[in-house]
Amino acid sequence: MRILVTGGAGFIGSHLVDAYIEAGHDVIVVDNLSTGRRSNVNRAAKLYEVDIHAREFERIVADFRPEIINHHAAQSSVKIGQTDPVHDLEINGGGTARICALAIQYGARKIIYASSGGTVYGEPERLPVTEDHPIAPRSNYGVSKYVGELYVQLAARTAGLEYTIFRYGNAFGPRQDPYGEAGVVAIFTALMLAGQPCTIDGDGDQRKDYLYVSDIARANLLALGAGPSLVANIGTGIGTSVNEIFHTLSQATGNTIPPRHGPPRPGDVRNFWLDCSRAREVLSWEPQVSFAEGIRRTVDAFRTDT
Ligand SMILES: NC(=O)c1ccc[n+]([C@@H]2O[C@H](COP(=O)([O-])OP(=O)(O)OC[C@H]3O[C@@H](n4cnc5c(N)ncnc54)[C@H](O)[C@@H]3O)[C@@H](O)[C@H]2O)c1
Repeated sequence: MRILVTGGAGFIGSHLVDAYIEAGHDVIVVDNLSTGRRSNVNRAAKLYEVDIHAREFERIVADFRPEIINHHAAQSSVKIGQTDPVHDLEINGGGTARICALAIQYGARKIIYASSGGTVYGEPERLPVTEDHPIAPRSNYGVSKYVGELYVQLAARTAGLEYTIFRYGNAFGPRQDPYGEAGVVAIFTALMLAGQPCTIDGDGDQRKDYLYVSDIARANLLALGAGPSLVANIGTGIGTSVNEIFHTLSQATGNTIPPRHGPPRPGDVRNFWLDCSRAREVLSWEPQVSFAEGIRRTVDAFRTDT
């Protein structure tokens, strides 16, 4: 299949580009490298360093005529979303509206859209969180990611586009940016390997659903053959606390420096883990990499990169 991956130079996007290439698909990447890196992009995929809002993006879609647009480009920081909500909405909401318009205009069959299980539901009323849980984001980022979902579903209703919307848990793994404000596994791994102390937000007992990135890539592979309209959580169904992450990473890296504690994060959901039975039933998808194994692989990759 001809697949256009937006955000394919980023953390998650680059792993699913690898999975698509390995499965023999014809893949191009559109990424403005605002947070992504050229070195993340598989050599077999052509990278266009272009913004999804740029005029040139339309020419790329018109020339390549993708069957599938896998849309992972985003302003992916909750913190930036809080300080600059208009920019956040322009990229995540407006950017997705543009993807949908171009997909319809140039005859794409399907959009695969990366949404956020950790933010669109807000503070869960019940756990694990199922897809029919009320949508009640507590951050601008959560709103803008959900706006993207609405545009994708609008394109399906009005123009017959197929879609898969994935609501991911918290991804971790190789290539995650350790210098950003999010991605506690990457941040702690880099600090521990550099012999620096880690700061845990609040008491560290907040529990979230941490998922190894190769399991996300596999879900995106299965989405190619999924039915015409699917919204599915992608996570482990297990809540892991930040204190547990600190402990597991300390063992894996040999860290002996005790953690510091800072204030809790504003806008942060305290506890969430996702019910993923729909992904299991519809896609035969289940996470295959345990948290401990994912941590080992991540630490190994960070050791090699530094
Ligand atoms: N990391 C997670 O735990 C997580 C959880 C839920 C959902 N998501 C979603 O998954 C996707 C990928 O997230 P990630 O963690 O890999 O983040 P990332 O920042 O590594 O990847 C985003 C990519 O999009 C690119 N990009 C940003 N704005 C762009 C624009 N205007 N035009 C073209 N390219 C642009 C960036 O350069 C980057 O390569 C995002 O849509 C994010 O909202 C991530």
